[in-house]
Amino acid sequence: MRLDDILFSQGFGTRRVCAGLVQHGHVEVADSENVFHLETDASSDWEPSLYPDGFNFKVDGRIWRYQSLAYVVLNKPAGIECSQKPSAWPSVYTLLPAPLRQRPCPGKVQGVQAVGRLDQDTTGMLLLSDDGKFLHRMTSPKHHMPKVYQVSLKHAVVGDMANAMLARLCAGVVLEDDPQPVKAQAAELLSPTHLQLTLTEGKFHQVKRMVASVGNRVEALHRSQIGGLKLPDDVLPGQWRWLTAQELQLLRG
Ligand code: URA
Repeated sequence: MRLDDILFSQGFGTRRVCAGLVQHGHVEVADSENVFHLETDASSDWEPSLYPDGFNFKVDGRIWRYQSLAYVVLNKPAGIECSQKPSAWPSVYTLLPAPLRQRPCPGKVQGVQAVGRLDQDTTGMLLLSDDGKFLHRMTSPKHHMPKVYQVSLKHAVVGDMANAMLARLCAGVVLEDDPQPVKAQAAELLSPTHLQLTLTEGKFHQVKRMVASVGNRVEALHRSQIGGLKLPDDVLPGQWRWLTAQELQLLRG
């Protein structure tokens, strides 16, 4: 594969734009010692076996990592919508660099897609990828992928009331406009107003509706874990980074 093909596959623009980036000396490639060398010949063959996933290159001085498929984790702040076409708030996709949004995906929508959605006011862990199988596996109800939420409750609950609330959430509650009961896989009160809830489904506003059904209200909601992977500490609100191979393994289970 040629270097301009690589740039194209990573979302750096049309083939013509990518060839121009190489020809005009905007691209540096790293050797096995991770030393960067200016690349000016677009026609030079780029040998993928020499440069596996994770190989670094720079475009206009910014380090980029070649990935045949993209898997990223993002720490979603409040006040951001997960839709590509948001109605009132900025889109979460504006937190990603253009190449991640533009990666060509043959026969599919361009760029990485979010694994499910969080409400505008929910914070925390969001995964994005352009791997269709991964997206399907993470979102399909058949796979029962657990997701852990930290819920700040409006009304403090203690004692018998707390036990009754947790038992109802785990036994199953009926939501408005939905005859099928939904239940938490696990529910724990970490303080009178801090509920930790693990769900294996992802219905619309599910946490908020479940909490409402037991007579309380969500003041703040944060997703802290998906499958076996906790939101990494080094990804601050509004930031994203590539998932490591070990982290992907934790998600695949
Ligand atoms: N449940 C909700 O109510 N909102 C979210 O954003 C996620 C789960």
